[in-house]
Amino acid sequence: EKSGYPHFMLKEIHEQPRALKDTMTGRIDPERGDIRLDEITIKAEDLENIDKIFIVACGTAYHAGIVGKHAIERLTRIPVEVDIASEFRYRDPMVDDRTIVIIISQSGETADTLAALRESKKRGARIIAITNVVGSSVSREAEDVLYTWAGPEIAVASTKAYSTQLVSLYMLALKMALEKGTVDREEAVEIMREMKQLPEKAQRIIGGEQKIKELAYQYSKWDDVFFIGRGLDYAVALEGSLKLKEISYIHAEAYPAGELKHGTLALITEGIPVISLVTQEQLYEKTLSNIKEVEAREATVIAVAMEGDENIAKNANHVIYIPRTIPFLTPVLTVIPLQLFAYYAAVARGCDVDKPRNLAKSVTVE
Ligand code: F6R
Repeated sequence: EKSGYPHFMLKEIHEQPRALKDTMTGRIDPERGDIRLDEITIKAEDLENIDKIFIVACGTAYHAGIVGKHAIERLTRIPVEVDIASEFRYRDPMVDDRTIVIIISQSGETADTLAALRESKKRGARIIAITNVVGSSVSREAEDVLYTWAGPEIAVASTKAYSTQLVSLYMLALKMALEKGTVDREEAVEIMREMKQLPEKAQRIIGGEQKIKELAYQYSKWDDVFFIGRGLDYAVALEGSLKLKEISYIHAEAYPAGELKHGTLALITEGIPVISLVTQEQLYEKTLSNIKEVEAREATVIAVAMEGDENIAKNANHVIYIPRTIPFLTPVLTVIPLQLFAYYAAVARGCDVDKPRNLAKSVTVE
């Protein structure tokens, strides 16, 4: 059932163009400027009575939530907090009947996430679930459910669940913003048009995986790797770093690029790989100056940048280009080279990619 692939993880990375397409099919209609999410019943009146949104999840789903916060706040102007499920319910969260809680869980069975859902419900919040498993506990207990149509995810490391969670969050943000009237139709249509092109652009990245494989083999001998980025690039850096740790056992850390000089720069020494994400136009110069700081310490800079950015090559040892899209949507694409990098680094190190040590696919204990 691996359809000729050596591992489920590689198969699932490669399935992303299809999974993204399936998740958006029938839901996004740029021609009519409309988002149709049949399972989401939230209306303009409901949103008027909402002060705050929480996004609660664990691991990779939590990282998707960070991107979701950015999308929802930008389009709806409703404040969003992102929380780790195993922390959320122990701090007497400020959740009531004027709160929406978005629960993200691929499996729909993660114990802490489910407990957060129940706690929020008890406090009167309206629950929207984003999950990949029809009939899962999370899907049964939420009022509204938005399914990611990623198909079964077998590898312990989550890949296509993450990218489909991202497009689900974008759709949800657009839907709420259109209901609330906080996005103009033209901008919404432009975002939708760009979203429709993501599957094909994802496919182009996968088509160029040979170069990423070579880099991963080359740097798989390092014991430490850093990921840096600003804004949405930082959100993706967190996910890239988790993926690398989880399956290759390489120590990896993600930092907001501007935070390095507040301590972490002390760890940046000659040769150390620093994977630097620079896809956000409005933050470009700022991130570039941080790249120069690590370059000055003779780190090896592997940049992930937008196609056409030739300037970055002057400040990086290697550049991985991703197809151009609006900066707001880049996480869906930027994550793919990082997934492939983690995968090939793990293969190069002889790790059991689909079943990393100490980890389970579905964490049903707290
Ligand atoms: C990492 C990974 C985990 C899960 C986390 C939540 O690759 O897969 O971090 O994302 O355990 O799982 P779900 O989404 O099933 O609640």
